[in-house]
Amino acid sequence: MTVFALIGGQWGDEGKGKVIDYLAEKADMVIRFSGGDNAGHTVINNKGTFKLHLVPSGIFNSRATCIISNGMVVNPQALLNELSELNANGVDTSRLFISDRAHIIMPYHILLDGLEEERRGQGALGTTRKGIGPAFTDKTARIGIRAEDLLDKDTLLRRLKPVLELKNLILTKIYNRPPLVLEEIITQYNLYGEQLGHRIRNTGPMIHGAVEEGKFILLEGAQGSLLDTDFGTYPYVTSSSPLAGGGSLGSGIGPMKFNRVLGVFKSYITRVGSGAMPTELINETGEFIREKAHEFGTTTGRPRRCGWFDAVAGRYSVQINSISDIALTHLDIYDGFSSLKICTGYKVGNKVLDYFPSSIAVLEKSQPVYEEMDGWEELTSEAKTFNELPLAAQRYIGRIEELLHCHVSFVTVGPHRDQTIMVRPILA
Ligand code: GDP
Ligand code: IMO
Ligand code: MG
Repeated sequence: MTVFALIGGQWGDEGKGKVIDYLAEKADMVIRFSGGDNAGHTVINNKGTFKLHLVPSGIFNSRATCIISNGMVVNPQALLNELSELNANGVDTSRLFISDRAHIIMPYHILLDGLEEERRGQGALGTTRKGIGPAFTDKTARIGIRAEDLLDKDTLLRRLKPVLELKNLILTKIYNRPPLVLEEIITQYNLYGEQLGHRIRNTGPMIHGAVEEGKFILLEGAQGSLLDTDFGTYPYVTSSSPLAGGGSLGSGIGPMKFNRVLGVFKSYITRVGSGAMPTELINETGEFIREKAHEFGTTTGRPRRCGWFDAVAGRYSVQINSISDIALTHLDIYDGFSSLKICTGYKVGNKVLDYFPSSIAVLEKSQPVYEEMDGWEELTSEAKTFNELPLAAQRYIGRIEELLHCHVSFVTVGPHRDQTIMVRPILA
């Protein structure tokens, strides 16, 4: 039995798609367990370059079953677009299934995401405007539409009618917008049901069967730990749980079945959207990293905010996920840096915190305390083993292990699948 949960250790975009694609070569099943098409996972392999938003990054292994799980919210049109792009590139998508419990993004979710952001003005959260927050809100409010509802026209009408009445009241009375037309939505979503129905099923037996047969299952997280609704930088968070615990809830695989939790971290840190980020570099170094690493959002194209590696946040992430192994990505971006900084504490007034604060007000006041390390001149992008990395890079990795109290098991030195160094063998 081998169940690995792979999650983002920072604010997202750590390179999860790339690491999943690498591991998925050996996987029997890959389950995306949280978020929706707010995610953007880049995969570069021998089939080409792909930006996946909903489809698990294991799709390139035609033997692996891929599941869009109950923990996700699905925009059917975005999924159909993604599937046709994959098919056009010769990728077999016949083993992709959607949990009948997954929630469906409706037109009013997308509208309301945008309207709520505009209403917040200066206090906007910087969401991806994909309707994620409103869809998860409806899930917890018990007025969501689930994938199973697309399978039966009468059910869809019965479920949607009262919800749309409420949404139209909000649209017309609060936002002064025209109401949405029930018949138009029904026609469109009945069509989605026809196009996607053969993939929608109770994925529980498939998943539990695979667990019982000892298959290699990868749980693919989206977003990052610091965007978690409970443990992230609330309210500047997303609306589902990107944590390993979210992997359990989002798949129905209990935590006792997890063998490893892989936390993906960039060698520096990035954030897209609003909210405090203590190590943010609003200077030439930050710009340099952004340009060199093309740090622009995979989903929205927004420039990502870049900063030094934050070991306070990193250690916290290791704790809230029980991370067993770190995948440290983007080491190559630091090639040519004469020195590097790592944040080891937050100065707030005359105190230094070594634990990530729960309050955004405290985080906003936190001044990073840095330690400085030597950088390296050599290029790392061709390295195939840990020993081929420059000594200063090895020391940098070692320091991150010490500060985060966790092994680095993978290092990546470029965006291609092959630019991955397995430091510790974690696959049989
Ligand atoms: P995800 O959301 O965690 O899957 O990450 P994204 O795909 O949104 O962003 C990561 C970006 O970094 C993508 O453009 C990847 O192609 C790229 N990438 C991943 N690993 C590396 C690496 O080790 N070095 C470099 N230079 N780029 C990488
Ligand atoms: P991947 O899986 C980075 C951020 C948004 C915003 C906040 C809330 O590619 O790492 P939402 O649309 O979820 O309500 O926006 O969360 N966000 C991400 N940032 N990577 C992601 O996914 C993200 N998904 C959401 O930018 O700050
Ligand atoms: Mg991304």
